[in-house]
Amino acid sequence: MVPFIALQLDRRSRVPLQRQLYDEIRTAILSGRLAPGARVPATRVLASDTGTSRNTVSGAFDQLLSEGYLEGKVGSGTYVAHMLPEDLLRVTRQPGPSRPVVARACLSRRGRMLGGIPASLRSREIATEQAFRTGLPAFDEFPRVLWARLGARLLRHAPSAVLTYGDPAGYRPLRRAIAEYLRAARGVNCSAEQVIVTAGSQQALDLAARLLLDPGDAAWVEDPGYLGARGALRAAGVRSIPVPVDSGGLSVVEGEKRAPEARLACVTPSHQYPLGMTMPLSRRTSLLAWARRHRAWIVEDDYDSEFRYSGRPLQALQGLDPIGCVIYTGTFSKVLFPSLRLGYMVVPESLVDTFVSARALADRHPPGLEQAIVAEFLAEGHFARHVRRMRTLYAERQEALVAALGRELAGAIETSPAEAGMNLTAWLRGNASDLELSNKAARVGVVVTPVSAYALEVKPRPGLLLGYAAFSTRQIREAVRKLAQIF
Ligand SMILES: Cc1ncc(COP(=O)(O)O)c(C=O)c1O
Repeated sequence: MVPFIALQLDRRSRVPLQRQLYDEIRTAILSGRLAPGARVPATRVLASDTGTSRNTVSGAFDQLLSEGYLEGKVGSGTYVAHMLPEDLLRVTRQPGPSRPVVARACLSRRGRMLGGIPASLRSREIATEQAFRTGLPAFDEFPRVLWARLGARLLRHAPSAVLTYGDPAGYRPLRRAIAEYLRAARGVNCSAEQVIVTAGSQQALDLAARLLLDPGDAAWVEDPGYLGARGALRAAGVRSIPVPVDSGGLSVVEGEKRAPEARLACVTPSHQYPLGMTMPLSRRTSLLAWARRHRAWIVEDDYDSEFRYSGRPLQALQGLDPIGCVIYTGTFSKVLFPSLRLGYMVVPESLVDTFVSARALADRHPPGLEQAIVAEFLAEGHFARHVRRMRTLYAERQEALVAALGRELAGAIETSPAEAGMNLTAWLRGNASDLELSNKAARVGVVVTPVSAYALEVKPRPGLLLGYAAFSTRQIREAVRKLAQIF
């Protein structure tokens, strides 16, 4: 049901109100403001909204019904016709902001630049049922009943603090719980005041790019690396300087050669995205030393460090930072679910106010109820339990994937178990094109992401990125069998 229709009637006009009403509704239909099939409000409601009599509205409706603009269904109201009368095709539409030619010419330079960012960096709805989409958690194992219970309890008893306009830095109990978790689990050096709850890590990356850098500044990005980080920098007018990664992650030596003057380095030291290596302590120290020498910033994107299966987890880079040049970001997209759109950033105390102001201007604050649910999820120990359970499950799923690839595709690919995360890289033997293979796989219903899609300048070894966390072992085996057909 269309809740209300904005109609403008001119009581001083000599055109009768019924005719004006007819014209207004007809124009709303023709301009698309009232879509085909939309249910229009009852005559009683429209009469009250427009301050006219019910007879006036009924008269206008009768005419629109008889001319085919509206359709009446006995007992179930009045609807905009699906098929408009043929002669309407000749009616000139009112010029409106949605006309593409006008709209494009009116955009600001920033608007044109943002609109030109490749579609792969813009959000889209991601189908979850197709193995091997990367970066998705196990939706089938998410504790929905528990989540619903916490949500229902909160809705019934939540203080108005949860429902009112909130603190742009985030709900205080959640900020406290995140700080406690990060100190204990990740060795992050922070107080709750330094934690800002964001709309996923993407908002944290966007804020960091816009608030720390000026348009035209240079920033190091990992090559291959995360498209979301590059997109946020580009949207802020920042020049991304691709820095190759090796077995220790981003090469600081290469970065210094290419752009020693860069103002920021964007890194995934716990688990390089997409290749999966961990940055060793010596590399972390030299990255921090570079930042210190050049008064540059480091953005540490710690997006999935909860899932480590082997090897020693290293303390977050932020915890080693003696001068406060690291902005730490994390997300609940991987441990909980991505549509929750909750993540966090830890910023030096002196920057908290600036980041919080900018955040408030973008979208005021994160949603109160969801924050309160996550706060309880953490405080009651469900978060830690869920991470432990998922770690075991993902290790099993990864094992099933490695085994299936070994059985079906041993001659064509090379792979070794990933130490952490939710994706596995299958390296192609020989000189096959990973992009071509990924297109072929899509045709048999399997999603594999080419490593080359994440590269800027380097030509990485051809490989396919396979997300395994969200798929049952049966789905994994079936998808590998399908994959084997195309090799
Ligand atoms: C490297 C990296 N950082 C961050 C994220 C999470 O983004 P968000 O928290 O905005 O969902 C992802 C998700 O795929 C990622 O791969």
